[in-house]
Amino acid sequence: MKRFWWGLGTGILVMLVLPLIVMASGLINMGATTKPGVVEKNFAALAIRSSMAWRAPEQKNPMAGDSQAVEQGLTSYAQMCARCHGGPGVEPGVFAKGLNPPAPQLDHAAEEFSQGELFWITKHGIRMTGMPAFGPTHQDEEIWKIVAFIKKIPELSQAQKEQLKEAAPTKHQHDSKHGEAGHHGERDEKNPDHNDHGSESEGQKQRTDEKPENAHKHGE
Ligand code: HEC
Repeated sequence: MKRFWWGLGTGILVMLVLPLIVMASGLINMGATTKPGVVEKNFAALAIRSSMAWRAPEQKNPMAGDSQAVEQGLTSYAQMCARCHGGPGVEPGVFAKGLNPPAPQLDHAAEEFSQGELFWITKHGIRMTGMPAFGPTHQDEEIWKIVAFIKKIPELSQAQKEQLKEAAPTKHQHDSKHGEAGHHGERDEKNPDHNDHGSESEGQKQRTDEKPENAHKHGE
């Protein structure tokens, strides 16, 4: 019996210590340019799904069926989400290509997730991914409007797609490293209000690359 307890104790110790040693050793590459392994990918996805299913509010979307709310949701989506997730006819921003895990197009989520689940993800974000929490900075009502819009993504009219493209800050962005800098001035002039969101590192990188008198324009 004594041997059994020794065996169990050692087993538990090894199970606890071994992963710690592996993690502390630096063997696991946490760089975003490394693809996650099958285990990490599936376990993380399972944890996110379960966490969301458990916590998502059961309530119906108070904004569902309100076409004005959907319209406002469209604009918010274009400004706050499209640079990572893109949308029908809208390319994500250049920096979104470096996200790992990537930000998926949301048409599947629109069909698969309940409105409460979409609300929960948008409000709380997803830890250790690029998905930010919008709850700390936005009212529930605005988030419900975005969710009402996301639900409509699979069936957008041509006019709504155009509207989305117009409102998205990435509309003049080209998928080349040179195009990125060259088109900033044009984007900023047309969207003077959109400089408050977005990637700081991108902005900082450009700031150091460019002449100081232009730097303030490129804060996006
Ligand atoms: C800075 C980039 C970024 C922005 C901005 C962003 N997201 Fe995300 N989002 C992500 C990433 C990355 C994931 C994937 C996380 C994962 O795979 O675990 C994600 C996942 C999601 C998912 C789950 C999708 C699925 O199929 O599992 C939803 C829903 C979502 N985001 C909604 C939004 C909404 C709504 C907004 C705007 C209010 C937004 N996101 C803005 C990066 C972003």
